[in-house]
Amino acid sequence: MNQNRMILKGNICYSRSLSELRILEPGYLLCEDGICRGALEASGGPEALSEEWRQVPVTDYGGCLIIPGMTDLHLHAPQYEFRGMGMDMELLDWLEQYAFPAEAGYAKLSYADRAYEGFVEDLKASFTTRACMFATIHRESAELLMEKLDKAGLAALVGKVNMDRNSPDILREKSPEESAEQTVQWLERTAGRFLQVKPILTPRFIPSCSDGLMERLRRLQKAYRIPVQSHLSENPGEIQWVRELCPESACYGDAYDRFGLFGGEDCPTVMAHCVYSDRREQELMKERGVWAAHCPQSNMNLSSGIAPVREFLDRGIKTGLGTDVAGGHSLSMFRAITDAVQASKLYWRLVDQTKKPLALEEAFYMATVGGGSFFEAAGFAASGRFEPGQSMDALVLDDGPLRASRDYTARQRLERLIYFDDVRTLKAKYISGKKVSH
Ligand code: GUN
Ligand code: FE
Repeated sequence: MNQNRMILKGNICYSRSLSELRILEPGYLLCEDGICRGALEASGGPEALSEEWRQVPVTDYGGCLIIPGMTDLHLHAPQYEFRGMGMDMELLDWLEQYAFPAEAGYAKLSYADRAYEGFVEDLKASFTTRACMFATIHRESAELLMEKLDKAGLAALVGKVNMDRNSPDILREKSPEESAEQTVQWLERTAGRFLQVKPILTPRFIPSCSDGLMERLRRLQKAYRIPVQSHLSENPGEIQWVRELCPESACYGDAYDRFGLFGGEDCPTVMAHCVYSDRREQELMKERGVWAAHCPQSNMNLSSGIAPVREFLDRGIKTGLGTDVAGGHSLSMFRAITDAVQASKLYWRLVDQTKKPLALEEAFYMATVGGGSFFEAAGFAASGRFEPGQSMDALVLDDGPLRASRDYTARQRLERLIYFDDVRTLKAKYISGKKVSH
């Protein structure tokens, strides 16, 4: 018998498509070497299993719900320490007064060690199984963050940030050469070192990256074939600044595209926010296969606005959800799902009544399949559903703490679990078939 096989039993729920869930009440989830081998109806008992699977031990989670793990497609690990502060500011002031001073502290490795330890501990205990994140400009503390995520068994893309202009002295690389050189050292030191933690190229945003730096990053992207993350069309003040800095660019996205850092072949790219991406910019995203990381809570906290997510979906732009800690104050992807649904209702009511609000199914899909597809493009096993061949990333949810006093359907339970956003409901979490918490 293959020792690396296991079966989980419970009420299984995952996306069949953008608008539809597949529910097995109850179901078996088959796993081999960390990979999902399918999900089957279990109501008829073990007869549903083929001969070879009937001998495999079953972990029975009874009435619990089993869903795919959440992928947080955009967050800032060093900002975790000051979440929930400066929430009365807009982006540029908040960066100057909160984000930049806090990030400067990560020059000191002993400080980074302490701060990242707490962040990783909390991420491990959360609903998130994969996360695509910014570190700071400091390559040694970025490396330390990667070590900690790896040790915790989490899957992650981590970026050492590049920034060489329009930033305070304490958080600015002195030249494009220095920024590129530090990035190369970081890439060389981390390449292939971790099981499920990989580097991602991270120009912070156009205002903080000179043309010389962007040109060097283009060369590094090509040489190392690594994915790219950055920010796009987030806040009116920022967008106006980009217009002034890049008068020759047709749109904000074009300012990245000119340097080959906006998707296309061998350059999986995720752009956070896209709140003000107009038709032209969205068409460019679609053409280049750029992912949008929708971060509704951050967009509310920093008074940025509401991203036109319905348009992204209608255009077939690949879209995931991000917490954008600490623009977002919550690390919870369940909260991000709820915020996405709520923001879409206000968009529909107040901005454009032809843009139907998001259904729970759609926001759930973005948090699982949408983000998972970016990781797949970045070289990870597929995730986000329980289809054969996908990574076995699963959350086991027990709604006992929510005081259910009558029977609910699995769909109702899922909605309630997401809206209540209570981490006490997380009974177990698996990443690539390995139990990582509880
Ligand atoms: N744009 C550039 N840097 C940042 C950041 O740290 N947070 C957010 N929300 N937007 C940014
Ligand atoms: Fe961000």
